[in-house]
Amino acid sequence: MANLAALELDRPETATRPARLRVVLLGCGTVNTGVLDALELMPDRIEIAAVVTRRRRPGQTGRTAWLTDIRDAFDTGPDLVIDGLPDCPAAEKALDLAVERGIHVISANKAVIARRPDLEARARAKSTRFAYSAAVGGGVPVLETVQRLTAAGETIASVRGVLNGTSNFVLGLLEQGVGFDQAIAAAQAAGFAEADPSSDIDGLDAAAKLALIARKAYGIAPDALAIPADSLLSIEPGQVCGVRENGLRYRQVAELSRTETGEIDARVRLIALPETHPLARTENEENAVEITCESGLKIQLHGKGAGQVPTAGSVLADIRDLLAAGEG
Ligand SMILES: NC(=O)c1ccc[n+]([C@@H]2O[C@H](COP(=O)([O-])OP(=O)(O)OC[C@H]3O[C@@H](n4cnc5c(N)ncnc54)[C@H](OP(=O)(O)O)[C@@H]3O)[C@@H](O)[C@H]2O)c1
Repeated sequence: MANLAALELDRPETATRPARLRVVLLGCGTVNTGVLDALELMPDRIEIAAVVTRRRRPGQTGRTAWLTDIRDAFDTGPDLVIDGLPDCPAAEKALDLAVERGIHVISANKAVIARRPDLEARARAKSTRFAYSAAVGGGVPVLETVQRLTAAGETIASVRGVLNGTSNFVLGLLEQGVGFDQAIAAAQAAGFAEADPSSDIDGLDAAAKLALIARKAYGIAPDALAIPADSLLSIEPGQVCGVRENGLRYRQVAELSRTETGEIDARVRLIALPETHPLARTENEENAVEITCESGLKIQLHGKGAGQVPTAGSVLADIRDLLAAGEG
């Protein structure tokens, strides 16, 4: 994790350094292990009050409390909670409690944030931070770019992209003739797919990301579950290989725009694109996004959409913003 640590430690010192942030990490799997490694190298800025996992970690030593009860962790009095939990009721309750107690939240948990737009609204009403850069695009700054464009007075006409690293990784293996179950197992072993990969495969993960982009672009929070989505299971692995031979690549493409009447038009489709298309040039877990503004401005983003380094890097960028704002 040396590069994540460098990201933080290379920052120039500022004259008005905020107090140390007291931090609780919820979950310590792929994402938060990377975050923890980097934060442990910043003892002057960050105090790790507790780390919560589902199973006990008896081997853990040091000053940080390793807990299995989320409420016990909140009782350590954190300024900031970093959510690296899967989509589960415990995560939803934890974010609710953090917002209720006026604790800053940084989360990678796109499913919960998309389902509960009230959390961000309530945090904003309390002037506490509720940031989730890592929830869309992994290391690709999709939400940040949409936010900057709208802040600069642009109106987003459409967003189109490969937003799910796991399904892209799986499609890449299917193209090579690997079986579906083997491809999923490889995505899990690489830390991209969760234990239950169905939301990646069925397009729900991409739909949740579209809901978060819609929130930043239009201030509207569509129901991710109501966004129509094609499942990877709707095509035969042989079809994926077959079109590849004809210069086409299947990609899970998430699309968002606003109709003339102001409604959100969003969908997740499996499309066979020409291999020269920017969205078709995504390899493995990469994401690619095209943002088109009504002014005609077009922005293309491309990069690692999943995995420890890019995702933890986005979480650390949110922490850096919080520290820079002096909200510790
Ligand atoms: N992985 C990626 O590339 C990526 C990219 C973008 C966003 N995300 C999002 O980031 C979040 C974390 O992903 P991940 O890949 O790091 O997940 P992960 O590797 O499966 O880790 C999840 C962690 O949460 C803990 N946990 C699960 N249920 C819990 C509960 N009820 N109480 C306390 N702890 C619990 C687990 O504990 P144990 O260690 O004891 O099992 C584990 O430490 C997810 O919401 C995911 O959608 C992930």
